[in-house]
Amino acid sequence: MRTETDFIPKSFSKTIESGTFTWSAPSNIALVKYWGKKANQIPANPSVSFTLNTCKTITTLTFQTKANPDSFSFDLLFEGKPKEDFKPKIQKFFERIAVYCPYLKQYHFTIDTRNTFPHSSGIASSASGMAALAMNIMSLEKALNPEMTEDYFNQKASFLARLGSGSACRSVKGKVVVWGNHKGITGSSDLFGVEFPTAIHSNFSNYQDTILLVDKGEKQVSSTVGHDLMHNHPYAEQRFQQAHDNLSKLKTVLENGDLETFIEIVESEALTLHAMMMTSMPYFILMKPNTLEIINAIWKFRKNHNIPVCFTLDAGANVHILYPENVRVQVLQFIQDELVGYCENAQYICDAIGKGSQLMIDN
Ligand code: PMV
Repeated sequence: MRTETDFIPKSFSKTIESGTFTWSAPSNIALVKYWGKKANQIPANPSVSFTLNTCKTITTLTFQTKANPDSFSFDLLFEGKPKEDFKPKIQKFFERIAVYCPYLKQYHFTIDTRNTFPHSSGIASSASGMAALAMNIMSLEKALNPEMTEDYFNQKASFLARLGSGSACRSVKGKVVVWGNHKGITGSSDLFGVEFPTAIHSNFSNYQDTILLVDKGEKQVSSTVGHDLMHNHPYAEQRFQQAHDNLSKLKTVLENGDLETFIEIVESEALTLHAMMMTSMPYFILMKPNTLEIINAIWKFRKNHNIPVCFTLDAGANVHILYPENVRVQVLQFIQDELVGYCENAQYICDAIGKGSQLMIDN
């Protein structure tokens, strides 16, 4: 089993002056939720997610050696324009990963990043953003150490992404990723995400996720604060145990294709996540009235038409609608007819389960 020290490089066989990489990294949607963490971004419970396909961050990292290797040096561009307010987050990320990437201080970087989903859509870009940056950093490390294996590359990329934003570690690979030690899942680790280790039932091939944008505003409570409120939370221990149990059950479901149980676990996880928020001290609510309208409409539609469609939520008001590809036409019609009215500016994004991060340019 890998430990943190495995990710501290010993020596490099090559030197490199300058270069450019571009990686895309997708967003992901958790089925069993990560909510609560220990020191150094270690999750309080294991989680599992579908990697998405369309909602991505695309980041170009350009680097050039510099004279003084005492501090980090980088410019940050968002959609080609300088974006000063993103810089502190990147500075903090570089500081956190410095021991694992001692070469960073030798370079000046230009980080140019953009998202395929609308800015301020309420879709968190931290997972895809941190994953895309971590992939680029690992491309640089691989240039310094070409003997590196693909497994090590991916594990360390996920490990670094986790230090940027916990759930980002699930955006390196597809299609289903587990993060956090779980006794039933071979290779699972608190340090990085791993691909679901056994074959996934064909019911989940090209599984659809339509994201209804209910509220595009800034959330009132950040996930960092939310995670923190799981310390001294009256239900924390039961919740963490429940996540272990739900992951055991979901593992079986992903293998046998039982959509009824899938729906039960996924919806319960979403509501439990929000129940944890409502029972924190201080308590808070991230759902909006339209979130509940949508949930009720999905329940009614599912019952009336016997179509296996369900919802999940992340830490916000938006609703992810999950369903198999073979009911796509009916579900999209239902969304058009009955749900767009609950979305801000009638906006929604059609996505599906995806393959993970992709290298786009390697110079
Ligand atoms: O990665 P963070 O710290 O933004 O936390 C994400 C938490 C949830 O999206 C609510 C759940 C999850 O597992 O992604």
